[in-house]
Amino acid sequence: MDKFVIRGGNPLVGTIRVSGAKNSALPCMAAAILTEDVVTLSNIPRVRDIETERKLLQSMGAEVGLREGEAQDRTTICCRTLSDPVAKYEIVKTMRASSLVLGPLVARVGMARVAMPGGCAIGGRPIDLHIRGLEKMGATITQEHGYLEARADRLHGAHIVFDKITVTGTEDLLMAAVLADGETLMENCAREPEVTDLTALLKAMGAKIQGAGTSTIRVQGVSKLHGAEYRINPDRIEAGTFLIAGAITAGDLIVANCNTSHLRAVIAKLLQAGARVEVLGPDAVRVRSDGKLRAVDITTEEYPGFPTDMQAQYMALATQAQGECRVTENIFENRFMHVQELVRMGANIKVDGNTATVRGPAQLSAAAVMCSDLRASASLVLAALVADGESVLDRVYHMDRGYERIEEKLCGVGAQIQRLGNLFAPREPES
Ligand code: EPZ
Repeated sequence: MDKFVIRGGNPLVGTIRVSGAKNSALPCMAAAILTEDVVTLSNIPRVRDIETERKLLQSMGAEVGLREGEAQDRTTICCRTLSDPVAKYEIVKTMRASSLVLGPLVARVGMARVAMPGGCAIGGRPIDLHIRGLEKMGATITQEHGYLEARADRLHGAHIVFDKITVTGTEDLLMAAVLADGETLMENCAREPEVTDLTALLKAMGAKIQGAGTSTIRVQGVSKLHGAEYRINPDRIEAGTFLIAGAITAGDLIVANCNTSHLRAVIAKLLQAGARVEVLGPDAVRVRSDGKLRAVDITTEEYPGFPTDMQAQYMALATQAQGECRVTENIFENRFMHVQELVRMGANIKVDGNTATVRGPAQLSAAAVMCSDLRASASLVLAALVADGESVLDRVYHMDRGYERIEEKLCGVGAQIQRLGNLFAPREPES
């Protein structure tokens, strides 16, 4: 298993570019199921979860191709024939977002068999709201041998009020509703930019949707969708991770090719903590810090609040801030796996329920640490960038799930990181 060796102590200086958003690319790739035409997506990040999604679609009979281009790669997906509408456990167990094919499969082919996602490092993460929504749209759903089977001749419109705000739940039911008979009204929806991104693609495919980005979405079902070409939004969590990297290392970093309007909550906290953050335009932001940061509380919330996917990275920063702050996690019940690893590096953190109290600044010392999930890994990379000595991060495959060539990007702005092991087997570009 790959490891990172990171020598701490270098301020990050220069320009670092953000890749496409993993959490937009996944639902957008699943949306290709809704049409028999070709959907072409660009700015798809080269990360492990995208590989998994590619395998998932191919296992169902889809043709998925990659055209490597000068300016950008283009992924083409054609789901003309979906010979086997089944999301197999071997694939789903590696990536929960596989459940995003449930709604589109039922809507398009009237049947879906999806392995139930098991537990996850950060929480139980049930998909009961996905199931309840599909049942309201007329699907019959049974569960057997660890699989969900959903059937419907044709889904019909419905009035759905989510008990809890769910990102992939909103996306899954949105994709079901676009081919349903009649109107669907969804309330208490997720407002995340990834939902808006998916909606833009669906509209380009001929869907009729209003209200994406707000809590209330209205969908007029249509009988057929067509192919489309779409460029995925930049990854706001990767951008946020880089902003923290610039601040924690007392660097001077320009984070480019991002969407600054998606970063407001993170930027606000960095400014409160005493970092200098300058929005240079719609797609670039500069962060500078002299390393003297103030402790500031955060509470994770649904968008546009402070993202839970930035909580671990922010905690690494808080270990270097002057004073005491509380980090409260409201979205997932078990998202403090990084705490013990940070404490092993010398951080002063106490956890009580869903709140961690961080006292700083702590002089972190390099250590061998274990990555446990995607964002916890990012937090350990950030801590190792300021720790005294060489840290060894194990199981960085967690990181590869959602960060494209992170070590190359960080080395490009002065970090000292080495990967031990191979990332991916080389892939033959499509002839
Ligand atoms: C999405 O997960 C993201 N994943 C997550 O990013 C992100 O942390 C999360 O949204 C919250 O922002 C993708 O987009 C692929 P939820 P999702 O449904 O949709 C509960 C990363 O690091 N819930 O919004 O699975 C759930 O348990 C990943 O990139 C139910 O109870 O999250 C949680 O407590 C990690 N029943 C809360 O709602 C349901 O049916 C929010 O989860 C669905 C969710």
